[in-house]
Amino acid sequence: MMPAGYAMFARAHMQKYGTTEEQLAKVKVKSSKYSLSNPMAMYRRALTLEECLNARVIASPLKMFDCCANADGASCVILANEGKAKKITDTPVWVAGIGATSDTLSTTARTNLTGLTCAVEAGRQAYKMARIKPGDVNVAEVHDCFSIAEIMACENLGFCKPGEGGKLIEESQTYIGGKIPVNVDGGLLSKGHPIGATGGSQIRTVVLQLQGNAGKTQVDGAEIGLVHNIGGSGLYGNVTVLRR
Ligand SMILES: CC(C)(COP(=O)(O)OP(=O)(O)OC[C@H]1O[C@@H](n2cnc3c(N)ncnc32)[C@H](O)[C@@H]1OP(=O)(O)O)[C@@H](O)C(=O)NCCC(=O)NCCS
Repeated sequence: MMPAGYAMFARAHMQKYGTTEEQLAKVKVKSSKYSLSNPMAMYRRALTLEECLNARVIASPLKMFDCCANADGASCVILANEGKAKKITDTPVWVAGIGATSDTLSTTARTNLTGLTCAVEAGRQAYKMARIKPGDVNVAEVHDCFSIAEIMACENLGFCKPGEGGKLIEESQTYIGGKIPVNVDGGLLSKGHPIGATGGSQIRTVVLQLQGNAGKTQVDGAEIGLVHNIGGSGLYGNVTVLRR
């Protein structure tokens, strides 16, 4: 069901904005590059653009490497109030903003098939609470269950305009050193997607970044990080803004 659903989003995005299979494949090329630095990733092999483009078709236009892997996993987040947090660690990371929304279950009732409305609204809520703009985010973990999902997330969160997510990866703006580094731990596409544990693992990555403990994939001077997590077929959107 999920590969077919996101294949539909991909087709709609291609038709409306001219997004290409190469741009989708480039999302996975980035993901596989960064997976090499993540010992927790299920798949740790750098893939070429040709390998991604020539992979087995799962649900056209999505191929094997456009899809996250089914995976087991666990994650844990320790939450504490300000006083306790300062006693537990010298480098606390603060929850600056949260947004949580839902959309209609039926995709036939949706007006937008090139993005997720729940993500747009969750992002808006989180930015408002954190009193920041998309351009203030230094590093982001987004729900790349499929390559097209990362492209749509970048648009929905305001990292680029609607329809420009393909161009963003094409120009390497989501790599470290680009406008907004996205999924620099390999993302769901390489880490795997254990569903229930996924959001916690995204929080972990951003916390490591904001504490300056992300090793080879450290984004220099990261002060503000964002986590975007989706449930169901774009049914639930959750966005969390974290601050050093
Ligand atoms: C895409 C999918 C159908 C492939 O499943 P499959 O046909 O059983 O394929 P396999 O898992 O056996 O993988 C085949 C090969 O590709 C590799 N592979 C699979 N997914 C990979 C990934 N994301 N990155 C890198 N390599 C991957 C495997 O290691 C395997 O390599 P091998 O032949 O050298 O051992 C399955 O992973 C899937 O359903 N993914 C989507 C999961 C989903 O919908 N999650 C919810 C999203 S919201």
